[in-house]
Amino acid sequence: MNIEQLIDLVYILSAALFIFGLKWMGHPRTARKGNLTSSLGMLIAIIATLFSQGIVSYKFIVIGLLIGSVVGIVAARLVGMTSMPEMVAVLNGFGGISSLLVGVVAYLVNKNLDTFSAVTVILSVIIGGVTFTGSIIAWGKLKEVITGRPIQFFGQQFVNAAILIGILILAVMYSMNPAASTNYLWAIILISFLIGVMSVIPIGGADMPVVISLLNSYSGIAACAAGFVMNNTLLIVAGSLVGASGIILTNLMCKAMNRSLSNVLFSGFGSVVAGKNSAKIEGEVKPMSVEDAYYVLEAASSVLIVPGYGLAVAQAQHAVRELADFLEENGCEVGFAIHPVAGRMPGHMNVLLAEASVPYEQLKEMDEVNPTIETADVCLVIGANDVVNPAAREDKESPIYGMPIINVDQARTVIVLKRSMGAGFAGIQNPLFFKNNTRMLFGDAKGSVQGLVAEFKSD
Ligand code: TAP
Repeated sequence: MNIEQLIDLVYILSAALFIFGLKWMGHPRTARKGNLTSSLGMLIAIIATLFSQGIVSYKFIVIGLLIGSVVGIVAARLVGMTSMPEMVAVLNGFGGISSLLVGVVAYLVNKNLDTFSAVTVILSVIIGGVTFTGSIIAWGKLKEVITGRPIQFFGQQFVNAAILIGILILAVMYSMNPAASTNYLWAIILISFLIGVMSVIPIGGADMPVVISLLNSYSGIAACAAGFVMNNTLLIVAGSLVGASGIILTNLMCKAMNRSLSNVLFSGFGSVVAGKNSAKIEGEVKPMSVEDAYYVLEAASSVLIVPGYGLAVAQAQHAVRELADFLEENGCEVGFAIHPVAGRMPGHMNVLLAEASVPYEQLKEMDEVNPTIETADVCLVIGANDVVNPAAREDKESPIYGMPIINVDQARTVIVLKRSMGAGFAGIQNPLFFKNNTRMLFGDAKGSVQGLVAEFKSD
């Protein structure tokens, strides 16, 4: 076996590790193993690639590797759980700009490209550029350095169409004669940056997690194109996997919100929602104290905990785990009902609860709990709002009508932990808070749960 065959074999092994890694990442129990497996696949792929190329000097590769590793480790350690979508946005952006640079360098090294190579360069540059600036805007919206409201103006569609036609014409002109078209390439890069900005600014900050997942898919497609540019099979495979998994995830998120991708991308969700709040509110808000909530929980024989974004904000996961332990000790059956888009990123609640070592057996999916939810003595809603809003089921005028929710209002008693009557992500009122069987325990979720734990301890 010669060195090339050996490298191909290592590439097949890496690709297999990526695929198994992705499969395992699909379940909380195996997610860590999946992450490690994929990382191992990437490590051996990098080592094999370094051997396969005629590397002139390893100096800059090692320096780059060290700087990248230090920045990556520090950033991953410091980032808060609620800021994870921002971090993913930045990483996608880096992926995009890398593919763009690969395309540019491949062209500058040899400008006499055949049409196929010219097209691959153009694709890696355009998709990479769009991904880069799109991700920066998504990051800015999430970080609130740019307004989270959709930015829309008169004639926007025409401007966008003109930009698209312009880049298409330039791409064709470049591909016909790459050697003499360096200036076209610079223009294409600038316009791709512009497209990234123009396509993300009209989307509300609230929809950024979906956009980030889509941009993740783009970064994979850009990497795939860069794989063609460099004639590297594994980069093509890895890019395709990222591209495909990103689009699948995007679809799942849209489905869980009962929205289409085009609705997310083009409807300007968030600009009109506040005015559309048509929830017919009946009943009155009934606040309760920590002590009263304790008496209800102490008497319950089954409690379903429904976490939401507020749990992440309050960082109440460890306190919640402690409360669940006390409830179980008290002879109560405890489950955690997880809505697929609770929080601000896919698997947000799973990650938080895993951090607090909540046993996987206690985690139940929405479809699993809904059919029997009326048998639950208490639904303890902790920092969740939209994902338990019955308007999604009952009010045809509601912007979230049709979104699948956890039907906590059908439980015997509902206790909602939040700080105020403030709205959630969709910016709409929640009739659940006014229902007869609902009690509001106002306050920071961590403080309230710690108060409940203290009551159990002093018992
Ligand atoms: P939200 O509807 O955003 O509600 C969160 C609630 O937490 C708020 O009403 C807030 O009320 C409360 N809260 C905030 N900080 C708190 C604290 N320290 N202590 C106690 N409560 C606190 O959250 P959700 O129910 O998880 O729904 C998620 C939303 O995000 C859905 O609309 C979904 O469509 C959307 N979304 C999710 C994703 C993914 S992938 N997860 C992607 C895109 C969109 P107060 O201010 O009154 O405390």
